[in-house]
Amino acid sequence: MQIQSADPAAMANFYADTLDMSSRRLDSGDWLLEGPQRRVLVTSGADRALGFAAFACRDPHGLAAIRARVTAESAEILPSPSPLFGSDAFAVKDPDGNCIVFGLGQSETPRKGVRGPLQHLTLATRDPEAIERFYVGTLGFATSDYVRDETGRIMACWMRSNHEHHTLACFRKSVPGIDHHSYEAGDWSVIKDWCDRMGDRRIPIMWGPGRHGPGNNLFIFIEDPDRNWIEISAELEVVHDRAAQVWPHEEHTVNLWGRGILRQ
Ligand SMILES: [Fe+2]
Repeated sequence: MQIQSADPAAMANFYADTLDMSSRRLDSGDWLLEGPQRRVLVTSGADRALGFAAFACRDPHGLAAIRARVTAESAEILPSPSPLFGSDAFAVKDPDGNCIVFGLGQSETPRKGVRGPLQHLTLATRDPEAIERFYVGTLGFATSDYVRDETGRIMACWMRSNHEHHTLACFRKSVPGIDHHSYEAGDWSVIKDWCDRMGDRRIPIMWGPGRHGPGNNLFIFIEDPDRNWIEISAELEVVHDRAAQVWPHEEHTVNLWGRGILRQ
């Protein structure tokens, strides 16, 4: 993913040190942060704005299938803005104007470093119904879980593009943009290692540890210097095939262990 920032150098320093990533400046001026199975680009712009989100397909066949589906759905195919993909990559715009890129991974990520692949992006949107229609209907994601309010409106929605419970999610919120992005630590003991790393750096855990209802994943949240929310997660549900479930709009849904942050 590419995140915009008014101070990209400060963001690059934070991600390099806190999230155990190497940092280098590209010819484009973007900062590239790399760790094992995680890459983040930081570019100049408005704080907390999404430049683009990128999904790496496993093989050329999968990439071609998504392109064919997007074409069949009459959505516009745009050039990929990512310097990390090849010429076969392409982009689409979702109903909120978020730029979503699909391509094939071009190179290995570093092998050394604390475990935590970049696993999902959660959007904030005023129109979750339109977001779900686009990602499921146009792109072919599958919905794993909903939160609905008492009138039936979607308040949150988790969608998958592989066996993981969600790779893209959204919350209904008055200000659209990024809600958070998440790194998957795999198991609880690795989250503990991340917490110790944050403690050494005097970075407070702003939410958690807790366990989400939808996805059943353990989590902690921290903030970066621009106040983007960063999640570190483990034990995310593996979904092979099941109907989407509906959860109530209450704190317990988003944290089975205690205080929940309901978006507004
Ligand atoms: Fe998340």
